[in-house]
Amino acid sequence: QKSKKERAWEIYGLSRDYYRLLLSKEVGQRAMQYLAKRNLTKTSQETFQLGYAPAGWDALTKYLLSKGVSRDELVKLGLAQSKENGCYDRFRDRVIFPIWDSQGRVVGFGGRTMGDDPPKYLNSPEGEYFNKGKLLYALHISRRGIREQGFAVLLEGYIDVVSVYQRGVTNAVASLGTAFTREQGRLLMSYTHNVVIAYDGDAAGVKAAIRAAEILQELGCKATIATIPDGMDPDDFIQAQGLEGWSNMIAKALPLVQIKLLQAVKQYGIGNSASKQRILQEVLPNLAAVASSIELEEAVQHTATVLQVNWETVLDEIKSYRINNR
Ligand code: CTP
Ligand code: MN
Ligand code: MN
Ligand code: MN
Ligand code: MN
Repeated sequence: QKSKKERAWEIYGLSRDYYRLLLSKEVGQRAMQYLAKRNLTKTSQETFQLGYAPAGWDALTKYLLSKGVSRDELVKLGLAQSKENGCYDRFRDRVIFPIWDSQGRVVGFGGRTMGDDPPKYLNSPEGEYFNKGKLLYALHISRRGIREQGFAVLLEGYIDVVSVYQRGVTNAVASLGTAFTREQGRLLMSYTHNVVIAYDGDAAGVKAAIRAAEILQELGCKATIATIPDGMDPDDFIQAQGLEGWSNMIAKALPLVQIKLLQAVKQYGIGNSASKQRILQEVLPNLAAVASSIELEEAVQHTATVLQVNWETVLDEIKSYRINNR
């Protein structure tokens, strides 16, 4: 007798195989062209088990019913919606990205539209089986690379991971958006305590990268933030700059305090003592959170240099912040 979970994995697995098969058929041609246009190779399509959910209403439903899956199961797993006169597939006319747990079992799907009908990505509904905040995309594929290289790269999206992987970056995972959670942090930390965050180079990405770094740091993980040029994401970047450009960019990832300083200086300027005070207030919580004394010394020195003040002043502020927030 299978457990409920095992049955779910089985059905998601059947669905993945069905979507994979359709991608290779005539009906999947547009999806194939779409993937070609995005420069995603055949090998990537295989490694990441990409597929195609056909247009029409109930292709997957019919297929799974024929395999002995019940309507009830289809609905509970978020693969179909029940309506008065039948069951309708959730994913229609979309490129399918299976989403796995850390053991490589399929636990849901993301479906990208090939046009611009929103949403850009439709994912499996949150529920008993699929929790975006509890998993990291491609962890079971990249865990070997993470171990070998001693660090992980955290990205936003499906295509980012596939795109960098096919160009040689085998230690990347994605949080599936910008809402990185403590649970995702803990999961990642069972593989490494060293993470470089490379979120998209837009305002939302920078803000979310800072938040993710704070979460990781609170959990005791070393986290640095890489800067992707404005308007680009990892996929755009590696297509433009190649693996060498990518590696240089990752090597230049900065600690949280430095990123926050850069942001605050951009926002307030360092023209007068009031703005310097503001900037210092902004980074104080992060400075105070630095646990290693060598890192703290570096951070203090860096902050003092940027603000053009004595390092003793910065250290005094940190000390009183720590006393006041004990
Ligand atoms: N995302 C989502 N639902 C959306 C938009 C985004 O779940 N409506 C998640 C997806 O996992 C997506 C990630 O957030 O991969 C990052 O979003 P975004 O940067 O907008 O998309 P890209 O990954 O860059 O996708 P593309 O290159 O196809 O535009
Ligand atoms: Mn650990
Ligand atoms: Mn984005
Ligand atoms: Mn993109
Ligand atoms: Mn993006």
